[in-house]
Amino acid sequence: MATALITGASQGIGACIAKRLAKDGYNVAINHFPSDSDKANAEKVAEECRSFGVEAELFAANVADYAQCEAMTKAVKERFGSIDALVNNAGITKDGLMVRMSEEQYDAVIAVNQKSVFNMMKLVGAVMMRQRHGHIVSLASVAGLYGNPGQINYSASKAAIIGMTKTVAKELGARNVTVNAVAPGFIKTPMTDALTEEQRNKMLELVAMKRYGNPEEVASVISFLCSEDASYVTGQTIEISGGLMM
Ligand code: NAI
Repeated sequence: MATALITGASQGIGACIAKRLAKDGYNVAINHFPSDSDKANAEKVAEECRSFGVEAELFAANVADYAQCEAMTKAVKERFGSIDALVNNAGITKDGLMVRMSEEQYDAVIAVNQKSVFNMMKLVGAVMMRQRHGHIVSLASVAGLYGNPGQINYSASKAAIIGMTKTVAKELGARNVTVNAVAPGFIKTPMTDALTEEQRNKMLELVAMKRYGNPEEVASVISFLCSEDASYVTGQTIEISGGLMM
């Protein structure tokens, strides 16, 4: 049975992706940040994944840390025998207008959102090259495509993912490994629930479909990119935004 490794899968979109890939028949390796609360949440996600009749196991690692990613990749390979899909989902925001943003805020977002993708693509990419098979999908964002005031760090990290995706697609293509990204727009999460009605309406004016997306609508595109139906799709960034900018 094929195995998918999803980073930052203890909550939010990552948890939804893990459940969708489990439903698709993947055994799932659920990465979570090494904290007690993330572990407890990840355990609930694993339980739900197991209800689809697949195996699910937790792997703690801070994905910004290369050594922890290396240990995790080794552990997943040993436990499941192969790694057939990698979803780079873990991400953070530390927003602020550029003139007020601290160096710490900038570096932290680059480390978690961008460096982690290098760590995981390099380590799992090596496994997939040897297997001559694999699908890698990374979570970019519309902020990486169009920019967003208050998010110079975040948009830099997400734009970088788009370039990294194209480069690694070219490096691994001949080994039958596909490498793609998705760029979600406004997705309904606790973050967007906290916005005022006015803020929400202003954002939705820009969206052709006049509604937020759901985490499930992000997970379904990732499911496709991790399936054999997408076997000739690589180096692409698919926007999941209900038609934000056209
Ligand atoms: P979230 O904050 O609910 O989940 C992020 C997950 O990443 C959490 O489980 C967190 O523990 C984990 N994480 C953070 N730092 C980590 C680290 N160093 N090591 C391991 N895990 C770590 O966020 P959400 O909304 O589910 O976002 C998931 C991804 O989708 C992120 O990459 C985000 O940038 C991206 N995205 C989200 C959008 C949205 O509207 N929610 C829109 C566009 C992109």
